[in-house]
Amino acid sequence: MLVEKNVPLQPYNTFHIVAKAQTLVRITGEADVLALLADPHLGSASKFVLGGGSNIVITGDVKPVVLKVEVKGRALVGETPKAYIVEAGAGENWHEFVTWTLDQGYPGLENMALIPGTVGASPVQNVGAYGVELQDRFESLDAIDLQTGQLFTLNAAQCAFGYRDSVFKHGVPAPSAQTLGYQLLGLKDRALILRVRFVLPKVWKPVLGYADIEKKMAEHNCSDPTARQIYDWVCAVRRAKLPDPSIIGNAGSFFKNPTVTAEQCVDIIARDPKVVHYRMDDGSVKLAAGWLIDSCGWKGKSVGQAGVYEKQALVLVNRGAGTDGNGATGGEVMTLAKAIQTSVYERFGILLEPEPVVV
Ligand code: EPU
Repeated sequence: MLVEKNVPLQPYNTFHIVAKAQTLVRITGEADVLALLADPHLGSASKFVLGGGSNIVITGDVKPVVLKVEVKGRALVGETPKAYIVEAGAGENWHEFVTWTLDQGYPGLENMALIPGTVGASPVQNVGAYGVELQDRFESLDAIDLQTGQLFTLNAAQCAFGYRDSVFKHGVPAPSAQTLGYQLLGLKDRALILRVRFVLPKVWKPVLGYADIEKKMAEHNCSDPTARQIYDWVCAVRRAKLPDPSIIGNAGSFFKNPTVTAEQCVDIIARDPKVVHYRMDDGSVKLAAGWLIDSCGWKGKSVGQAGVYEKQALVLVNRGAGTDGNGATGGEVMTLAKAIQTSVYERFGILLEPEPVVV
């Protein structure tokens, strides 16, 4: 186990915020975690698990021991009559893994191409895009308990997936875990995900119906796309409207799309009839947070070096290069986020909930 001190975190967070980890340990497998837990100083210290850093806002030097997950490996590990079971190490890059599954002939993840971050972070957030969420393709995962060193495996129900939510985001039982009748303890700061397995159907069907994908089908005069075409279209749509984190620091959508009751939605439509909304199967209504922010006039605005992306108001960006310390601070990002929350609340009565974890 290699223990590094005062490690710059700027390359390890997609916002490119300048900060240091006082102590950083790279985790390449369970043996590294067991060695860490056996260490007289580090074993009982508080810990922070870092994946691809694509969903965090760092607001200062990080005091807990940073565990940088670098577990590698991708393989077909099983097969049922209906599906391939494919496994990836938590430290694998998500988009490279999606590309690899298609190259191997296991389609099913194409709608989630180009989501930044690592495989290990994908179940934490229950990432999703263009009509497919991680939970739709999830089989199970292996994790290790950071207090006891015990290895355990969770299935989808035990992960208590919700919209950009799972058991890994809660220190107490996740709301969806209770609905499902599971009395799981939340696993926030408790578990480190080592490997994730996906179930990819042998008889593949495209997931269509999302406006941006329908537009591409019309443009290409194609009603029966292949998985590779959907992958290419998703990449093109994302590249056109979302900033590339390797060029402009960002953490994807900064807020979740809020859900309101049908009655609340009537009230909001009365405030602005153009509000973008989608009726859900359970009678609730999902609102486009990007539209709410945009209509409050935030597109292109800044606080210090933190700004609202010009092409998609749901994405906050770091306008500074960051390398020389001139980029946005985590404090600027959070000040901007709070100002946006206040103005959306004053105009529509809705409190937007941030997606990234604030460290
Ligand atoms: N809109 C505006 N102005 C804006 C942004 C959006 O009017 O500045 C409107 C759009 O015109 C559209 C609606 O809002 O009618 C929804 O926008 P979009 O289709 O771009 O999707 P989104 O709801 O903003 C969600 C996910 C994305 C995911 C896309 C595609 C959340 C919080 N975000 O964005 O996920 O890629 O759908 O499925 O659910 C992420 O989580 O980091 C992420 C990028």
